Amino acid sequence: MKKAVLTAAAVVLAVLALLAGCGKEQETPTVRIGVALYQQEDTFLSTVVQNLEQLARAEEQARGIKINLNVTDARGSQSAQNEQVDTFLQQGCDVICVNLVDRTAAAVIVDKAQAAGVPVIFFNREPVEEDLERWEKAYYVGTPAEEAGRLQGGIVLDAWKKDPAALDKNGDGILQYVMLEGEPGHQDALLRTEYSVKTLMTAGVTTEKLDNYNADWQRGLATVRMQQWLEEFGERIELVFANNDDMALGAIDACLEAGMTREEMPFIVGVDATPPALKALEEGTLQGTVRNDAAGQAQGILNLTCALLDGQDPVKTVGLEDGHYLWLTYTTVTRENLPDAGT
Ligand code: GAL
Ligand code: CA
Repeated sequence: MKKAVLTAAAVVLAVLALLAGCGKEQETPTVRIGVALYQQEDTFLSTVVQNLEQLARAEEQARGIKINLNVTDARGSQSAQNEQVDTFLQQGCDVICVNLVDRTAAAVIVDKAQAAGVPVIFFNREPVEEDLERWEKAYYVGTPAEEAGRLQGGIVLDAWKKDPAALDKNGDGILQYVMLEGEPGHQDALLRTEYSVKTLMTAGVTTEKLDNYNADWQRGLATVRMQQWLEEFGERIELVFANNDDMALGAIDACLEAGMTREEMPFIVGVDATPPALKALEEGTLQGTVRNDAAGQAQGILNLTCALLDGQDPVKTVGLEDGHYLWLTYTTVTRENLPDAGT
């Protein structure tokens, strides 16, 4: 009889303990992060989001919190993105992360965020400085665009120094190139274009631009344009500068479709170091790329978010520059250092 009472008491205690546990679980602090993308289909940005999701799970474990990531796709429409931001703010997001459609349109979003008292972290598409300075809790996480251009130019320069004849197929001492550019007005398109060529020029390499085209980061558009260039310039194209890997892969697609061998193909370089680009590098169709640190940018966004929510000064804990900027570094990836590329 006594034993039965004891057992019953133990059961009650166990149930109470369970209930207490449940209660505790309900109290797990939840952080709500709204992530607004300009275009979810974008290869590089989809890797940033994958990294964000993975790292958020790790952060949940480490900090004993729950992180709700709400990702929206503006499909290239700034007005759609503004509405998505409104919804995030109405839903009570703690932080919003915005990958602007139009990088000159940040002011409206900064003002909305400030009115709601919700910090806003822009990433990948850099707002103009004055817009970021409208509010102390407006930030930018990204990579210095001109550095990608310099490193990309450096890959070509190294190859030129090693064996100029391999690039200069017509032997005129001039490097004839075409330039596949991202969207007009995007800081990465403008600066990668400028600094890749400048790097060669400053080193004393004479270049000749055959043509340039805005293929808006897209592989398919780059293929179509490269097909036209192959018809128009044929073997005169010795070098293809592409502002990103997807467009470099598009140029490679056109060369392969035209039946060119690897040796016949121009020297093609990209930026991002996406998995398909690293594969092309291994196969020898792509000659080099510049790693756009997707994991680093995702981690930077999360570190900044956590610092803000913990009430820390992000300038100190995250290492912000000028109170608003978190810069990640680019690195060169060629066949020589491919095993270290970390992918
Ligand atoms: C660049 C990246 C491109 C594209 C673009 C979108 O940094 O290299 O592939 O993702 O951002 O804004
Ligand atoms: Ca030449």
